[in-house]
Amino acid sequence: MTSVPPAFGLYVHVPFCATRCGYCDFNTYTASELAGDAASPDGWLAAARTEIALAARTVGDRTVETVFVGGGTPSLIGADRLVAMLDAVREHLPLADDAEVTTESNPESVSPEFFDRLRTGGFTRISLGMQSAAPHVLAVLDRTHTPGRAVAAAREARAAGFGHVNLDLIYATPGETDDDLRASADAVLDAGVDHVSAYALIVEDGTALARRVRRGELPAPDDDVAATRYELLDVRLRDAGLSWYEVSNWSLPGAECRHNLGYWRDGDWWGIGPGAHSHLAGTRWWNVKHPARWAGALAAGETPVGGREELTADERHTERVMLRLRLAEGMALTLLHDGGRAAAARAVAEGLLDPAAHAAGRAVLTDRGRLLADRVVTDLLIADDAPATGTPAGAR
Ligand SMILES: C[S@@+](CC[C@H](N)C(=O)[O-])C[C@H]1O[C@@H](n2cnc3c(N)ncnc32)[C@H](O)[C@@H]1O
Ligand code: SF4
Repeated sequence: MTSVPPAFGLYVHVPFCATRCGYCDFNTYTASELAGDAASPDGWLAAARTEIALAARTVGDRTVETVFVGGGTPSLIGADRLVAMLDAVREHLPLADDAEVTTESNPESVSPEFFDRLRTGGFTRISLGMQSAAPHVLAVLDRTHTPGRAVAAAREARAAGFGHVNLDLIYATPGETDDDLRASADAVLDAGVDHVSAYALIVEDGTALARRVRRGELPAPDDDVAATRYELLDVRLRDAGLSWYEVSNWSLPGAECRHNLGYWRDGDWWGIGPGAHSHLAGTRWWNVKHPARWAGALAAGETPVGGREELTADERHTERVMLRLRLAEGMALTLLHDGGRAAAARAVAEGLLDPAAHAAGRAVLTDRGRLLADRVVTDLLIADDAPATGTPAGAR
């Protein structure tokens, strides 16, 4: 087997939001939660530039194939700063001519001018958080935009020349009906996007949503309802030509997010920004979470790294199985030992893994297997008890 060098990408974290959505536990802050330079978009940009230069000194002339600006709400800091950040990447690192450069954006903080500036500045892909087409669902999620604004924003991005536009949906929110999700799917398709990410609502500890569920103000999301909604959405998207390529992601052919595929296929990436995680060849590290501490360390000429770990062969093996099995391309059975392969054969018999792919040497989830992906992963890993050190490192 020829060994393919892992993809290399940059993740850039923008830790600002106008308001906090009740379900979200990402590392992000509203203006009232931050003070001084750490709260300022210019302070963030200065520190991000310094960290990009620092990354370049470590990774040398490694070509950056993908850049993903996430948040938080990157659109809140404006297109000029996002482009200035990308210029800093170009200044310090080789950026591939065909690089995929994505930014997440919130529908209420974008405009045609914002998209024009990003497009001319070298961004190639826009990801917008739409979440739902039902106003009462958006209200439960504390979203401040109307459903129509998300669809309009996707159209504005396409009109500005973005061939790749994603809309994020959240399903199985308390109070959502099947018809609400059908309307969300129709709105996404009407917007003409080439990529959809859809996540079942997770009640994260410590969030306002978790407190509301605990107080009995809202019912907890129901797993069976989530499974039904997933199937409904999958059929709707498939009928429109968007296929799943990861359990929570659908795209037109060729419109898969290359940056995220890098994570799922065990690639290397450097995370810029507060709390950002990095991975290079089995070493993982993460920056301090607070924007002021992160920016302060960089301003003082110190590393912003808060922790580091060397993954053991077993840990890398577990991660590979967990991530690759969620992909439509699946994973080679040679990645498993005898116990794991026997569990894969049982999963085929149960209708959770595809028989034809299995006969060809791969573990690929069936439609039913996607609904039980976590269980299939657990079964394979528990049964796969042989030492993982014998696993071929580049097996796909
Ligand atoms: C963290 S946000 C960042 C981008 C942008 N601020 C936004 O809200 O769209 C990225 C996506 O994660 C998803 N997400 C965040 N928290 C979630 C949760 N608790 N359950 C399900 N999806 C969640 C949402 O679909 C959201 O669009
Ligand atoms: S979901 Fe997006 S907009 Fe809402 S708080 Fe989280 S990062 Fe901010």
